[in-house]
Amino acid sequence: MRYRVMELLADGRFYSGEWLGQQLGISRAAVWKHIHALSGFGLDVHAVRGQGYRLANPFQPLRKELIRASLTAEAAAQLHSLEIFQELGSTSDHLKCTQSANDSVGVRACLAEWQSSGRGRRGRHWVSPYGTNLYLSLSVPMSESGIQSGGLSLVVAIAIVRSLQSCGVEGLGLKWPNDIFYQERKLAGILLELSGEGGGCYRVIIGVGINLKMPDVAARKIDQPWIDLSQCGVRIERNHLAGRVLSELVEVVDTFNKKGLDVFRKEWQRFDLIAGRKVKLHIDNAEAITGVARGIDAKGALLVENNGITRPYHAGEVSVRLDS
Ligand code: BTN
Repeated sequence: MRYRVMELLADGRFYSGEWLGQQLGISRAAVWKHIHALSGFGLDVHAVRGQGYRLANPFQPLRKELIRASLTAEAAAQLHSLEIFQELGSTSDHLKCTQSANDSVGVRACLAEWQSSGRGRRGRHWVSPYGTNLYLSLSVPMSESGIQSGGLSLVVAIAIVRSLQSCGVEGLGLKWPNDIFYQERKLAGILLELSGEGGGCYRVIIGVGINLKMPDVAARKIDQPWIDLSQCGVRIERNHLAGRVLSELVEVVDTFNKKGLDVFRKEWQRFDLIAGRKVKLHIDNAEAITGVARGIDAKGALLVENNGITRPYHAGEVSVRLDS
């Protein structure tokens, strides 16, 4: 029922309690209760006497057929399943928990309108209000050599940049290993997780969160500098962007499996936001290291120069901050 309320309000126009009640077959008091609960889903609602209710931020509900229409032929051919949910704990957890031995081949994707326990890197929470952003995960088979060669997480970030660029977003930057930035603020994040039992049968779960329009009530919960696409001055159809992201992910993972990181290194350099800048590296249980970022090595490790010596640091071991 609550999701029907959200879909009825999705276009951002005013609807009276009476009209909503008629559509849903419930009383005006029951409508009010549902509207009141929407802030729990991270949505801002305007209630105006005589006009009714409206969402502060209209959104386009996720639709499988619209996402599929934006897939490249190659991605459409490789995509074994595409699932859409109103609500999940986490799209990545869903793919992990529902992976069975029978569908070990093929790519699986899932998206959710709302994540109750969206996860970010290093144990952080990913703020996931209903409807207005993108939360998407992809499960792809990978060879052991592909995983060990390093750099997949950087390549995935390149896929997100490509998909955003193809929708008209310019001025993006990448902060190693895979944060997508716009004007020094985080626009999108990526979480890579490995699942599989060895014997050459691995899967990588790629989780992607992109901020399209962050409602105020949700924004208050974010503990780092952030931005959304609406502030970048671009209006993108949500389903179209999802299709573009899935297509680029399928393509780059395929190329990475065949050719490794090398073919992406120049592209990484073009977007590298921290190269030549002073950074602070935080390593678990050790003192922070400061130095100057010097790009990446052949395995995708971050090169940092400190006291005239340049050393590689691997994702997972360290977190990086710009040192001002
Ligand atoms: C980061 O900390 O930068 C990574 C954020 C990844 C968020 C996405 S949203 C879809 C998928 N499901 C999750 O629980 N997390 C990822």
